[in-house]
Amino acid sequence: MIGTGYVGLTTGACFAKIGHEVICVDNDSNKIETLNSGKMPIYEPGLHDIVKEMVTAHRLSFTTDIKTAVHNSTVCFIAVGTPPRGKGEPDLAYVENVAREIATSMEEYLLIVEKSTVPVQTHKWIRTTIERYNRTGTPFDVASNPEFLREGSAVNDFLNPDRIVIGVESDRASDLMKEIYKPLNAPIVITDSASAELIKHASNAFLAMKISFANALAVVCEASGADVHQVTCGMGMDKRIGPSFLDAGIGYGGFCFPKDLRAFIHIAEELGYDFKLLREVENINNEMKLRFIRKIQSVLWNLQNKNIGVLGLSFKPDTDDMRFAPSIDIIAELVHKGAHVRAYDPKAMERARKIIPGIEFCSKAEDVAEDADILLLLTEWSEFKQLDLTKLKKRMRVPIICDGRNMLKRTEIEKQGFTYLGVGR
Ligand code: UDX
Repeated sequence: MIGTGYVGLTTGACFAKIGHEVICVDNDSNKIETLNSGKMPIYEPGLHDIVKEMVTAHRLSFTTDIKTAVHNSTVCFIAVGTPPRGKGEPDLAYVENVAREIATSMEEYLLIVEKSTVPVQTHKWIRTTIERYNRTGTPFDVASNPEFLREGSAVNDFLNPDRIVIGVESDRASDLMKEIYKPLNAPIVITDSASAELIKHASNAFLAMKISFANALAVVCEASGADVHQVTCGMGMDKRIGPSFLDAGIGYGGFCFPKDLRAFIHIAEELGYDFKLLREVENINNEMKLRFIRKIQSVLWNLQNKNIGVLGLSFKPDTDDMRFAPSIDIIAELVHKGAHVRAYDPKAMERARKIIPGIEFCSKAEDVAEDADILLLLTEWSEFKQLDLTKLKKRMRVPIICDGRNMLKRTEIEKQGFTYLGVGR
């Protein structure tokens, strides 16, 4: 497994868990050192235990030495980053470098699997690169095996997938991939490589579209006196629609949706299609953050010198990931408008400190309420449901809660004497 980010590390550890021997490779020696000393570079529920167990069972190891890893492997997964460049097109330099290193290291048949989210046709470039740089004519196959892991539930998503998508060009590769995933006993979809690459983009874009649909609907609900939660529950009961990914709020964040959507729009454009629908999905998502600020202003009037308590910073609960978290833009705007922000997050404080300047971080959730003119809920961590509202109210200057994730029950909050603002309700 080349690359020990969220995807590589989770996939590698879980492959070991289901019975394989896995060598995880990364060129970041600090990361490998951290892993070899028994620590985790990321927080992902359940992952640390699996890593410990598998290292002890000698089925999982970590190294910076790609050559030895390739020599000792039958299948080599590429799970390195594909960060966005200027216009959102993914930077594939890391993928190419790894393909070249594999090419110069392999001595026997190798199945090379792209796990990173890459533009359609990348498998062809991997194939060409390996053909060019492997001078010994070693036989190989290239397959595409996109991941659908969600941060915070990545282990469970790996072990209980809705489907496993495998794009292959040969029976040998297909058989190997099926064998690898056999212990999971999950539905396997075998396609050509280009289709597998597109399944990943299409799935993420469709999910982002569902969220933006719910958010646009929230605006209409708010204006008409309807409750978006009730509307999406009613819609979601139609099996053709489904109930998930229809939660309105301050919009999606994280390292996948924003980046993958940009990349897919760019890929479509390169292929001659202007995917306007997806541009609008992005616009709606960005707009939700601005609308949230306006909502705060609608109750506080001026933000200059107002004290604002923020609960939740990570882009979603059960992760310490701050990448493209809506909280970043929202807080930046509040600070820009002269507000004093106090914030708390159960897991993401360390990462948040590095990227959100000009605010105070509190070590307890209750402390953000001190002298606050409003409390904002930006990530739906379940522990926020247990907060003692009476205590919070006593510490606040004005008891207003603005719930950016529609997590709290309006009636309960109002019963405690708070003014409650949700999104689309
Ligand atoms: C996503 C995909 O779900 C996963 O299949 C892919 O492999 C990687 O990208 P992830 O980014 O971990 O996973 O998070 P996800 O749980 O999908 O949530 C993404 C964002 O959408 C979060 O910011 C979340 O708060 C937001 N969201 C999700 C909503 O605003 N409303 C919803 O109804 C669902």
